[in-house]
Amino acid sequence: MAFICIPIVCFIILLHFFIKKPNMSFITTNWPLIGMLPGLLMVLHRIYDFTVELLENSNLTFQFKGPLLAGMDMLITIDPANIHYMLSSNFLNYNKGPDFKEVFDVFKDVIFNVDAELWKNHRKAAEGTLKHQGFARLSVRATRSKLKNGLVPVFDHFAKEGMVMNLQDVFRRFTFDISMVLITGSDPTSLSIDMPENEFDKALTEAIEGILYRHVKPRFLWKLQRWMGLGIEKKMLEADDIFYRVCAKYISAKREEVRLQGINHQSPSGEGEDLLTSYIKLDTTQYETLNPSDDRFLKDVILSYIVAGRDTIASALTWFFWILSENPNVTAKIRQEINKNLQKSKTGQEKSSLDPSELNKLVYLHAALYESMRLYPPAPFERTSPIKKDVLPSGHKVHANAKIIILLYALGRMKAVWGEDASEFKPERWVTNTGSLRHEPSFKFLAFNAGPRSCLGKQLAMNLMKTVIVEILQNYDIHVIKGQKIEPLPSLILRMKHGLSVTITKRD
Ligand code: HEM
Repeated sequence: MAFICIPIVCFIILLHFFIKKPNMSFITTNWPLIGMLPGLLMVLHRIYDFTVELLENSNLTFQFKGPLLAGMDMLITIDPANIHYMLSSNFLNYNKGPDFKEVFDVFKDVIFNVDAELWKNHRKAAEGTLKHQGFARLSVRATRSKLKNGLVPVFDHFAKEGMVMNLQDVFRRFTFDISMVLITGSDPTSLSIDMPENEFDKALTEAIEGILYRHVKPRFLWKLQRWMGLGIEKKMLEADDIFYRVCAKYISAKREEVRLQGINHQSPSGEGEDLLTSYIKLDTTQYETLNPSDDRFLKDVILSYIVAGRDTIASALTWFFWILSENPNVTAKIRQEINKNLQKSKTGQEKSSLDPSELNKLVYLHAALYESMRLYPPAPFERTSPIKKDVLPSGHKVHANAKIIILLYALGRMKAVWGEDASEFKPERWVTNTGSLRHEPSFKFLAFNAGPRSCLGKQLAMNLMKTVIVEILQNYDIHVIKGQKIEPLPSLILRMKHGLSVTITKRD
């Protein structure tokens, strides 16, 4: 192993030493044996912006070549015709593939990891649960309650003390607590003034980061690291243990609760059940490949929903408030729209005016959120793989099991897709002349994915985010600390590398 690694490392150090500002053709040079790995490592610190330049110069599709036998070759594409073809019109020939499952192994059989019959069963069960009216009511109540008892007290405290707050951390705690309430029925209260550490929350963050590193390391290297229990791979193994241990507690408590209440128990308030209860009661005659009596299946359910809801919403909210701070005119317009359409709430009050039908009136807010997610998509890349060899609409040939990556961050910034002003934040592009929301096809605005595997929590997430934004804009001013470095961390989720430092003041 050292025989291969040492020359590669020496070569890369030499390149760094001699070439301070590598140009595009140098970075994309396909060297004998080591492929384009040196170039990739040279731009890793600014990988997001680099891919925008790369794809703009490559007619939206680029073939990356990794070192020989390293399993790193991948076709990178953001061509909307290819995206539509792979995710929708020729969906049957595209799946996550065996390589995906290996790289994402810490998440076992969660819905995002599986294909074929198992995915179909997962999807059907998730659709039945998430689209249930009772579950929508439960999510509205959980959001209002977390605002009142979590976010508002924390904001008030920081405002009163004039202290600097990491807004990204606050939003992550907020969404972690809500997700856990919706999934397990109990609140871990990670969002409180003393900001306690939660091992489950921390393990999730580490597992997600580790998966990204597996994309930029030769397969043999991360496997060796895993075998030896070193670095980020060690943390991933530890995360796996934590997932089993913590989930086991929630599952056994929930099984006992269901046993005591009886399988046919319904909530008297008409609110839906938490997800774990619904899955324990799943009618197994309808789902051949799902097994609710197996704790491992229920652990995958918990992980599926926590991964789906926690970081995505926290990421979207953090970038949104940062981009508002750069565009005070947009903030003013959103406040105007809120004042015109909604009554002012007293901070954190649980009131009926913020039900989903009221939120639908806030078209400009919706537009601003979409616009922020176009530029800062919470899930910045998507992977797919052909079952049989194929030719994409762009003319690129792909062999069976080839790795194909769709980079959403670059897609949102492409002039060829969004026009000359692609890199500008303009919520107006989402509003029609008659004042309604403009529809953009999902293969162009991919933040919630497209085709049969599109996001099942989109409505819930949009309502939740709007509720939080209304609460904050009506009652607080957020001041982003000047001079801090804002850059995305290379990860499965588009988080800010250094967090977002802000101070808060209360509005009259
Ligand atoms: C801003 C918030 C959110 C964003 C940007 C988002 C985005 C996405 C994306 C990109 C996918 C495709 C993932 C893949 O297959 O690789 C996805 C799938 C999914 N999302 Fe979301 N999501 C959000 C919130 C939620 C929430 C809150 C839930 C549930 C409570 C949820 C449930 C799901 C489920 C179940 C799938 C799997 C669909 C399938 O594979 O068939 N999402 N989401």
